[in-house]
Amino acid sequence: RAFPKSALRSPPTDVPEMPPCSFSPEEYKGMSKARMMEIRQQNCSPMTMKVTYYKEPVFIHQGYMQWLWDVDGRRYLDLFAGVATVSVGHCHPKVRAAAEQQMKKLWHTTNIYVYPTLHEYCEKLVSYFPDPLKVIYLTNSGSEANDLAMLMARLHTGNYDIITLRGSYHGGSPQAMGLTSNAAYKYPIANGLGCTNTMCPDVFRGPWGGSHCRDSPVQTTRECSCAQGICMANEQYIGQLQETLATSVPTRIAAFFGEPIQGVGGAVQYPKNYLKQAYKLVRERGGICIADEVQTGFGRTGSHFWGFQGHDVIPDMVTMAKGIGNGFPMGAVVTTPEIAASFAKGIHFNTFGGNPVACAVASSVLDIIKEDGTQKVSLDVGSYLMVELAKLRDKYEIIGDVRGKGLQIGVEMVKDKVSRDPLSHQDMVEIFEDVKDMGVLIGKGGVYGQTFRIKPPMCITKEDADFFLAVFNKSIQNYMERR
Ligand SMILES: Cc1ncc(COP(=O)(O)O)c(C=O)c1O
Repeated sequence: RAFPKSALRSPPTDVPEMPPCSFSPEEYKGMSKARMMEIRQQNCSPMTMKVTYYKEPVFIHQGYMQWLWDVDGRRYLDLFAGVATVSVGHCHPKVRAAAEQQMKKLWHTTNIYVYPTLHEYCEKLVSYFPDPLKVIYLTNSGSEANDLAMLMARLHTGNYDIITLRGSYHGGSPQAMGLTSNAAYKYPIANGLGCTNTMCPDVFRGPWGGSHCRDSPVQTTRECSCAQGICMANEQYIGQLQETLATSVPTRIAAFFGEPIQGVGGAVQYPKNYLKQAYKLVRERGGICIADEVQTGFGRTGSHFWGFQGHDVIPDMVTMAKGIGNGFPMGAVVTTPEIAASFAKGIHFNTFGGNPVACAVASSVLDIIKEDGTQKVSLDVGSYLMVELAKLRDKYEIIGDVRGKGLQIGVEMVKDKVSRDPLSHQDMVEIFEDVKDMGVLIGKGGVYGQTFRIKPPMCITKEDADFFLAVFNKSIQNYMERR
């Protein structure tokens, strides 16, 4: 039986119409929703209930490109991509074919043996990096990649201290939790040993910001009188990093970790030259600079393949995961031969890192990014979305900021534009639920849960963007009417 193509079984009359989709999902014949919730409550980690975002949960059954279908056959436009992870599209036919082909040949062996998929992938992935970033470690997740990066930075430099930006998320392992600077993701254990968080150069929420600080089609509404080429906000934030270096860490440090654009933190962008100057200060103190590209990599920022390229820096190490495998569990660290040599003194073994199926999948993802032009889609559709969202920001008092690059977009919600105080959790939840009920899945983030996050599979179209804009506009109108 073909499922209905419309977004809703009986759509309310004034809900924007979803763009058509010719794909028909299979009919769902599995477990009931009630039974799934029972199991979720009784047998799954209680965390799964905590992160079941919606009042009326979404029961996903199938996905195709930018679309998801629930068990009742209802279609959603997925603008969250399982947290920026489905990079080229759900069940992309070519990724699926690559996985199927490899599964017929070899699922697993250990990297004690030499097998082609690993080497083909490593050769392909390094071709996306500038010199001297030419040595790859394959892992299974972003946290694992960041754990490894911390270890390598410490061994290479002989120093211990690592600096990260407030509001960052670098993973949930006991080590990576120390890098992460967001109370919700921290546990009261000794996780932060040797990790220091410095002020995030957030030009919207932070103490300084202006009207041309960031590399985005949309600037903040804050005024500044900086002359061309000068950024007072940047100078102030770099001053804060200098204070941290002078007061909170030893004179020699191991590393600085930074996402090119904060992901979980709410697509927070820094002033244009911040990372460049920060890298210089860190290197002067013996530290290496690490770009966490778990969310920003693989063309998501549109202008470049890697987020760091948009900051005109070359890190000493890059960590990645999520979009690398279009949803297949995988991660990687790329670094220099010199740093790799410091780590070669002991043995580091990872059973699944470089798994043949993972490598075949990731290799096809790189091919598809090229063939489907997804980086250009990110740039074009992302820029269009941001400019249009900025019009909604100008229309509504509760939309404080629109920012990002490519398809890494944040919409920060406020009580009012003067105070910039975060919109309450309850209000965020209401709008969020309404957007979902009209057929669009987006994410939430920011230290205070105040930012909507848009990071879809990089195959969305302008029509999808228009649909979301109409839905978002409607959800804000509905919110205003309820008030
Ligand atoms: C920037 C960043 N780094 C690291 C991680 C951790 O990745 P994983 O969940 O695969 O361990 C995440 C996950 O959200 C992330 O957003």
